[in-house]
Amino acid sequence: MKLDFVLNNKRVSINVKGGLRLIDLLREQLDLVGTKEGCGKGECGACTVLLDGKPVCSCLILASQVRNREVTTIEGLSIEGEMHPAQEAFTETGAVQCGFCSPGLLLSTVALLNENPEPSREQIRRALSGNLCRCTGYEKIFEAVELASRRINGLSVQNDKV
Ligand code: FES
Ligand code: FES
Repeated sequence: MKLDFVLNNKRVSINVKGGLRLIDLLREQLDLVGTKEGCGKGECGACTVLLDGKPVCSCLILASQVRNREVTTIEGLSIEGEMHPAQEAFTETGAVQCGFCSPGLLLSTVALLNENPEPSREQIRRALSGNLCRCTGYEKIFEAVELASRRINGLSVQNDKV
């Protein structure tokens, strides 16, 4: 069947098989391998993408469900070749270790900061609770989100004590 949707700000029109998962469309048909598959059953968040700006598990969504909607993957986060402030913050704070969880965490972070540019630590913890990380212990990730928040809100870099 034919599927039309917006992917990373570009219109896509593609033939897909019925029953195809969104993650398989992204990784196998569109070569967007930044989206990772961990558990494949909605528990780890590694496959998180944004659907109309909200984080969803692409392993649980059928490709047909994104018809006429907007999908953002990690490949769509940078702006004109520049990293998104959240990507910079994750890199700078050491929130990326093996990196397997990072694309999903970054998309959850961006969704959070778009909705709430100055989240509390508790709000960050809650927003990222569906994204599991085996490497970092989460402290660096929470610091990265706070740093990204300060940058997005234009607060002084002198406050960037991380
Ligand atoms: S791979 Fe989708 S939630 Fe784990
Ligand atoms: S950095 Fe390795 S799983 Fe999170």
